[in-house]
Amino acid sequence: MRAVDIIMAKRDGRELSREELGFLINGFVAGTIPDYQVSAWAMAVFFRGMSPAETAALTETMLDSGGRMNLAGIPGPLVDKHSTGGVGDKTSLILAPLAASLGLRDPMMSGRALGHTGGTLDKLESIPGYRTALSPAEFREILARDGFAMTGQTRDTVPADRLLYALRDLSATVESVPLITASILSKKKAEGAEALVLDVKFGSGAFMRDPAEAEGLARSLADTGAALGLRIIALLTSMDQPLGSMVGNFLEVEECYACLDPARYSAPPRPGSPEHGLSADLMELTLELGARMLMLGGRAGSPEEGRKLCLGALAGGKPRDLFLGNIESQGGDRKRFLEMLGSYRSPHRAEIRAREDGYVSRIDARKVGQAGIVLGVGRNRREDPVSPVAGLQLHKKAGSPVRRGDSLMTVWGKDRESLEAAIPALEGAAEYAASPPSPEKLVIKEIRHG
Ligand code: URA
Repeated sequence: MRAVDIIMAKRDGRELSREELGFLINGFVAGTIPDYQVSAWAMAVFFRGMSPAETAALTETMLDSGGRMNLAGIPGPLVDKHSTGGVGDKTSLILAPLAASLGLRDPMMSGRALGHTGGTLDKLESIPGYRTALSPAEFREILARDGFAMTGQTRDTVPADRLLYALRDLSATVESVPLITASILSKKKAEGAEALVLDVKFGSGAFMRDPAEAEGLARSLADTGAALGLRIIALLTSMDQPLGSMVGNFLEVEECYACLDPARYSAPPRPGSPEHGLSADLMELTLELGARMLMLGGRAGSPEEGRKLCLGALAGGKPRDLFLGNIESQGGDRKRFLEMLGSYRSPHRAEIRAREDGYVSRIDARKVGQAGIVLGVGRNRREDPVSPVAGLQLHKKAGSPVRRGDSLMTVWGKDRESLEAAIPALEGAAEYAASPPSPEKLVIKEIRHG
């Protein structure tokens, strides 16, 4: 077999066999098939797509490229959540301790920044000392003790996704239904989840721009996942503007920590209080996803009951304690983390100001995500480090009243040059209207499978 024949076959629209996919993926992992051939193949898949059988074979090949977490003996239910990627999308960091506080076990294997979207691993690594490459034994031990553990793909566990994910990020081959399906489900199966809530995003900041495309992705994920024995609920959710108020690495961890503050749930946020109001969509989505995790884990009979349980747990403070405990379990410096809140920012800072009076009608998530790469939140080359202190804080979102000159967002660049380069795109991300836009529905559809 030759890699070039496999690339040519996909380029010409032929269905690849399990053997051909195995040859290519295993050769890539072993280092015998070079990056440039795998990039060419990924681009052919991007244009030609894959049949359901091919997608399933690719997922299994990627899964079998390494070992699986052995979670035998850990009392379940083992329920996880995964998003198809968004801007300011940080629900995982709130959901894992929240689910654990309600008796679920969340074995969470995540990825890094991908395209213009952020990555859970990059966010967590902005906490000093925090380790995201856990050995299978560490993963198991932390999961059993804390109720959740957060790791990435490693040399031993789904190495094919570790390599392919990084390659797709920089070869414009992210937005492909079969490649996203195989990437997500190989990780979810390898981590040991029994049931999975999928947050399938559509909109300017998502990989699938329109709801119909996102539904196609949701169905591919649900069908392939069910064939692998996973019970799945997928929600189709809007990603037209950044979720919450922060976009960045440490900035997003900080927003999650604020959302775990029990005081927030015992006393409702003061109307007009900016931080609380601007995280409202983040918490709304978190509650919708958390409720489905509880339903899959048999802890709630309906979304309403699930939401109530989540709110009660947040008000009790256990999820925040578990979050802090997990920082220590994964090597992070909890004391320093707490000291850094509110001040761990790049010195290279600017304000983006409103250009018109009226209402903000939109903050384009894709433009913000692309500017985030320039600021240092994501990567331009595989070996680029991300900056923990770059990003932005939104002070206005769609629907906010504004006066010309008000600050729309505070922006931090990894250096002065990147800050200046990102400013025009961020200024162009905001749109205005004379009257308030009609509020957007965050969750538009639910798909259940398995
Ligand atoms: N999340 C993943 O894990 N993989 C993708 O390809 C996209 C989102």
